[in-house]
Amino acid sequence: MAEYVINGGRRLNGCIEIQGAKNSALPILAAAVLCREEVILHNCPIISDTDTCIKILRYLGCSVYRDGHTVSVDSRNMYRYDIPAELMREMRSSIVFMGAILGRMKKAEVSLPGGCELGPRPIDLHISSLARMGAEFEEGHGTISCSTEKGIHSSEINLAFPSVGATENIILAAVCSDSTVTVTNAAKEPEICDLAEFLNKCGARITGAGEGTLYIEGVKSLSGTQHIIIPDRIAAVTYMSALSVCGGRLLLKGISPLCLRGTANAFEQSGMLADYDKEGLHISADGVPERVRLVRTMPYPGFPTDAQAPVMAMSCFARGTSVFVENIFESRYRHVSELCRMGANIYVQGKVAVVEGSRDISGATVEAKDLRGGAALVVAGLGAGGRTVVKNINYIERGYEALEENLGNVGADIIKM
Ligand code: UD1
Repeated sequence: MAEYVINGGRRLNGCIEIQGAKNSALPILAAAVLCREEVILHNCPIISDTDTCIKILRYLGCSVYRDGHTVSVDSRNMYRYDIPAELMREMRSSIVFMGAILGRMKKAEVSLPGGCELGPRPIDLHISSLARMGAEFEEGHGTISCSTEKGIHSSEINLAFPSVGATENIILAAVCSDSTVTVTNAAKEPEICDLAEFLNKCGARITGAGEGTLYIEGVKSLSGTQHIIIPDRIAAVTYMSALSVCGGRLLLKGISPLCLRGTANAFEQSGMLADYDKEGLHISADGVPERVRLVRTMPYPGFPTDAQAPVMAMSCFARGTSVFVENIFESRYRHVSELCRMGANIYVQGKVAVVEGSRDISGATVEAKDLRGGAALVVAGLGAGGRTVVKNINYIERGYEALEENLGNVGADIIKM
């Protein structure tokens, strides 16, 4: 399996074009099955998760063409409504296809998303919400079959937690129906807004995206459109964490201020200087961050759970002690033991991690255990003295496009072997 070999301690200088958002691209690719004309998506990141989405779309009978960052999907000949277990296993977020397939075929069959690297990731909110809208479920042998052949009911759904995945599934199942579905306590993430914007361009009637209460007025059918995927705020945070431990100046191209809602404060505390202009975000850092005090992961607009690991890697190098509270997922500290191999001082109790910054982080052989935790090891390797080998980078490649190339172009010594 491929690995990154990093010789740390190089300053970073130059420009990085921020990729399209993984967490937008995946639900929008799934949503393409609802459209009765061709959909063309631009700025679609070239990562293994989008490859998996494309495999699923082709399995379902859609024609999909990729030309660099542009992907076109034509679902007119879609004929299947199931996703085989092997494809579901490749990508946990394939559960978002459940709502999309239901919306198109009025029935869907998906296998239960199996064991996952972030601890239990239940889908009870997805199921109870769709059931409230009239979907009927049957479960057995690790498979969920659901049907909306009796129609979607007009309904009000109050989510117990503003789940991103459940909000997406509700939107996708409701958007082509005869009913109106209202969702309170809906997820407000920018990726939800991007999905709603894409669907509205295709003729959907979704209002309230990003505001907490969503109104989805069903329409008969959706047409095609062209859409540009929003920039990836977690990729931006990862490069910012890297700059913070390496020092130097970077221009992050293509990101919007929205990308940094929830994380700007942490980077400000770290001492990073940041300035927006029409080119993008100009950031500079001296290579020894200040502590970030308290990071509590929360639904948007709070600090994103996906940014916790890269920012923790940064705080390993900081002057002083930082405290992290992971409120979204259990088992989202699997990078901690690997960071400790590199000399980091991190103490975990339940959902709290206390990080005592150190100047003695040194290269080691470490193993990525999940996507963002893997990226955190790359950040640590870039800041550490000596050579770091990050194994199992297939996790990292699920979400980061050309990570080693982007970092290499701005002065990092990193190669993929
Ligand atoms: C979550 C993140 C999202 C991130 C993605 C990948 C939040 C709110 N969501 O989205 O930003 O990009 O992971 O890392 O930060 N839950 C249930 N039942 C359900 C669904 C969820 O109990 O049916 C719980 C989960 O166990 C977890 C929390 O809700 O504690 C997060 O849920 P959700 O937003 O649905 O997760 P993802 O959609 O995977």
